[in-house]
Amino acid sequence: MLARATLRAAGAAKTGVTGLAKRNASTSSSSEAAAAWKNNALLASSTAFAIGSVAWYYYQFGRQPYAMTPQEEGLHATRYPWEHEKLYKTFDHAALRRGFQVYREVCSSCHSLSRIPYRSLVGTMMTVNEAKTLAEENEYDTEPNDEGEIEKRPGKLSDYIPSPYKNDEAARAANNGALPPDLSLMVKARHGGCNYIFSLLTGYPEEPPAGAVVQSGLNFNPYFPGTGIAMARVLYDGLVEYEDGTTATTSQMAKDVVEFLNWSAEPEMDQRKRMGWKVMAIGGVLFALSVWVKRHRWANIKSRRMLYQDPSIGSTPAAKQPGSTFRR
Ligand code: HEC
Repeated sequence: MLARATLRAAGAAKTGVTGLAKRNASTSSSSEAAAAWKNNALLASSTAFAIGSVAWYYYQFGRQPYAMTPQEEGLHATRYPWEHEKLYKTFDHAALRRGFQVYREVCSSCHSLSRIPYRSLVGTMMTVNEAKTLAEENEYDTEPNDEGEIEKRPGKLSDYIPSPYKNDEAARAANNGALPPDLSLMVKARHGGCNYIFSLLTGYPEEPPAGAVVQSGLNFNPYFPGTGIAMARVLYDGLVEYEDGTTATTSQMAKDVVEFLNWSAEPEMDQRKRMGWKVMAIGGVLFALSVWVKRHRWANIKSRRMLYQDPSIGSTPAAKQPGSTFRR
């Protein structure tokens, strides 16, 4: 403004009053229009920005976050009170042994358990000799001999449980195009873990409910995302014969095999919990001790009182004041 006024004054001095009036009128009207346009543009763009922000925020956070319909997501599994999931409980090793039997007799014809070596069964659900006998039932490739030939040898404790199929393609070919996944880490790989697998195994209805669309080759299971699963119901009452005399109902077998699969996903669980309790116990005592030591050490410093003696008031030493902590 100041600059413009100066310019104007200079212009007036040069051109005279009439010229000034004319020029003045034209300049001021065009600059006013420009300012008005600027104001409007600013208003419009800030309004647009505000609306845009709200819309963007709503788009990000305002809508119901359903990635899938409930049917696509599958029925949410019931929560069961699994003993072994409690903080102070271990696996029930008799159940692990039964669960492994179910895996071997039922699931192992389709599902691999490729991360479990025979040696890990020893002491958890089998004796050494039982595990060795089991390992020897299968043949494994030897290292190449002097002629470079690879021969077959019976399995050893260090071998891993063999897969039912040579490769994924063979597995798909035998299962109508669906791949039976490896079960070693299945409990950790699915939302719901034990609850989900138990519900899946026991959740096949006799008939799909009215109105449900089941593709050919698939089976209806409400717990499986999409409700059509390539695995048919595999567990039926009395399917296996437990050596400890437990009645092999569908739910008993499902519970045992799920507990076994939880072991295969977390074989270190018992050890981990025991170590955890030791750490908590010893750590707790040490922490309490360190609090006590700290208070003891700081007691002098925390309980002392400092007095300031203004030197201008007098020369009485602070040590002679009553109640002074500096008294020696
Ligand atoms: C006849 C072959 C067969 C047998 C026996 C079998 N399954 Fe399956 N299983 C499959 C196939 C095929 C799939 C893949 C299903 C799909 O993707 O639609 C599958 C999938 C699964 C899944 C994964 C489901 C998911 O959420 O992806 C679990 C868990 C499972 N089976 C557990 C078991 C257990 C436990 C047993 C033994 C009690 C067993 N299966 C026996 C064929 C079988």
